[in-house]
Amino acid sequence: MTTHQSRRKTPHRQPRIAQQAALAVLVALGAATPSWAADQGAALTQGHADYLIYCASCHGAQGQGDGPVSGSLKNRPPNLTYLQQQEPEGKFPYQRVMNIIQGNPDYAQSYRTHGPADMPVWGKVLTEDSGDRESVAKARVRNLVEYIKSIQK
Ligand code: HEC
Repeated sequence: MTTHQSRRKTPHRQPRIAQQAALAVLVALGAATPSWAADQGAALTQGHADYLIYCASCHGAQGQGDGPVSGSLKNRPPNLTYLQQQEPEGKFPYQRVMNIIQGNPDYAQSYRTHGPADMPVWGKVLTEDSGDRESVAKARVRNLVEYIKSIQK
């Protein structure tokens, strides 16, 4: 039994400097550890770190769609913790989420989220931020998907 009725929502605003420092560390890690996705714990840590940098501003620090800029968007960012529950078979839609994040061009056309307006195409951004090393970018996208999978209700 808990005495706290609900967790208070606190806006997590990461100071920009901290974000940049985190990113520098991630990029350095990527250089030193080509197989950085091998370990699941490391994958989640990495995914979470990238999530806070690239996604939390819209989707919220806890993935609940309540990030600081969510209110000023045309389309509200969805709560990402219900993706699994929303599936008819209750299975986490791994490939779909991967396509959404990467901005797979075939897929993006049929999905307005990845229209240029509201949700940036992260495959490209992550590739650039990984020194154009596609294998590193792919691992980071996978880690993001793993992280989102780990926050399902
Ligand atoms: C600029 C705001 C913004 C950022 C930053 C952003 N998103 Fe989104 N995202 C959205 C919006 C808005 C939608 C839904 C729009 C729509 O209805 O077309 C969405 C949709 C999604 C969906 C689809 C959910 C569903 O119900 O099918 C996923 C998954 C997702 N985002 C993941 C991410 C991840 C991972 C990141 C970080 C790499 C990210 N988003 C960054 C705004 C953002």
